[in-house]
Amino acid sequence: MKKFITFEGIDGSGKSTQISLLCNRFEALGIQYTSVREPGGTRISEKIREILLQKENLELTAEAESLLFQAARAQLTAEVILPALQEDRFVICDRFTDSSLAYQGFGRGLDLKALETLNNYATQNTQPLLTFILDVDVATSLERRVVKVTDRMESGGEAFMGKIRRGYMELAGKNPGRYYLMDGSLDKNELFQQIWNILLEKYVGVLK
Ligand code: TYD
Repeated sequence: MKKFITFEGIDGSGKSTQISLLCNRFEALGIQYTSVREPGGTRISEKIREILLQKENLELTAEAESLLFQAARAQLTAEVILPALQEDRFVICDRFTDSSLAYQGFGRGLDLKALETLNNYATQNTQPLLTFILDVDVATSLERRVVKVTDRMESGGEAFMGKIRRGYMELAGKNPGRYYLMDGSLDKNELFQQIWNILLEKYVGVLK
């Protein structure tokens, strides 16, 4: 069974907290895993990340932006994700193809079909087995970010975040077999318990 799990959600939805809880659990159980984030995770992808997130890159068009995310993804998939899956390791990815659909598609208004084609091209048709979408409302997302300096993507504002949130919900509704829409406002340990229970169900015999 494909051991590929992704986490999605608007900025400040608590993905990184849940991912670190999951990594701790895997470590405690001696389970082999690789954890990566998008955009980034390879030397080249980290360079692309800088271009994408630097606030001064205001002239970056939505199309160029989406191709840069895809370039970073292509490199990460080929260099890290596919080799790790081949070695039968779990791969946990903080954002993946669904971020392009949610941010560039629903958020920026680019064509979803085109983005799907690009997603498949960049990932050599690699899809996660399951995707946790951590849902929080826009107010909570903004509140959780007060201490953080906002990057170029985060300076899109409330309306932008609202569109992305609704986009994720729409995606979740379309493919309930892969997407799990989780309540990101829950206590972090409670939420982790829910996530872990889903993983136990999906990976019967692999996880205990
Ligand atoms: P990051 O600081 O990693 O944010 P987070 O901790 O919320 O994941 O920045 C990544 C930003 O890039 C985030 O605002 C989401 C955005 N993004 C896209 O717009 N499209 C994509 O395909 C990906 C992977 C990320």
